[in-house]
Amino acid sequence: MDTFQDEVRERIEAIGHDARLTQAAQSFMEASTVPKYCYNFSCLGRPIIQYPQDMVAMQELIWQIKPDLIIETGIAHGGSLILSASMLALLDMCEAIESGVSIDPKQSRRKVLGIDIDIRAHNREAIQAHPMFSRIQMIQGSSIDAEVIKQVQALAKGYQRILVCLDSNHTHAHALAELEAYAPLVTAGSYCVVFDTIIEDLPDGMYPDRPWGPGDNPKTAVWKYLKEHPEFEIDTPIQHKLLITVAPDGFLRRKDC
Ligand SMILES: C[S@@+](CC[C@H](N)C(=O)[O-])C[C@H]1O[C@@H](n2cnc3c(N)ncnc32)[C@H](O)[C@@H]1O
Repeated sequence: MDTFQDEVRERIEAIGHDARLTQAAQSFMEASTVPKYCYNFSCLGRPIIQYPQDMVAMQELIWQIKPDLIIETGIAHGGSLILSASMLALLDMCEAIESGVSIDPKQSRRKVLGIDIDIRAHNREAIQAHPMFSRIQMIQGSSIDAEVIKQVQALAKGYQRILVCLDSNHTHAHALAELEAYAPLVTAGSYCVVFDTIIEDLPDGMYPDRPWGPGDNPKTAVWKYLKEHPEFEIDTPIQHKLLITVAPDGFLRRKDC
């Protein structure tokens, strides 16, 4: 197994230097953005606005970290909340098998907390009706509103392993304000995943109806944030492994104390 893991590590490192592969991935990201490729998928029946590779990355991270709280900004149809909640349900199931003590889903300590400025009624209803809902809590409001941040901070108290995913408004100012508000909640060894950093690497004009673009996006916010927060580092092997990801430089690992 160790040999296998060493080989995986070596392959991933090699990908980072493989110009043909990285260029092919970059071409795919550019070609797939305007046709809205990422809007074509769902998780356990709820639409999820993600690339499949990033869904796999989240599955790997959740298994690795085994969080008891996942905080997500940007709910939309709820697919990413359901993905996180279903992974937490699997963690509970594995814990129950190992300990021999079953966990009532309604009593589980593991939770997903989603924040969105506009939770549409039909999305809220569908999320509430989903079998994974017992692990989900939602807050409607801007993720950078002081009252919302206070609520999240209060809810986060008492949790031991916290993972954060930022996927709401993709301007530099908003993403930076989210990083300032929520990255401090990430526990040592866990991650703050910042989605849509890819905007920095795509040609200008790809989002004509949006305020973000090259120079003004979550990646520029990450770079600024990291200058003052050495407790976080970019996990580059994740983006090398994925190749196809909307979060290059967005997998931020909080260093162990
Ligand atoms: C890309 S979607 C989220 C996709 C979702 N995470 C998924 O994977 O399916 C972005 C969401 O951010 C929300 N949003 C925009 N501005 C926001 C803000 N200031 N605070 C919180 N949510 C916001 C939008 O309403 C939208 O639902």
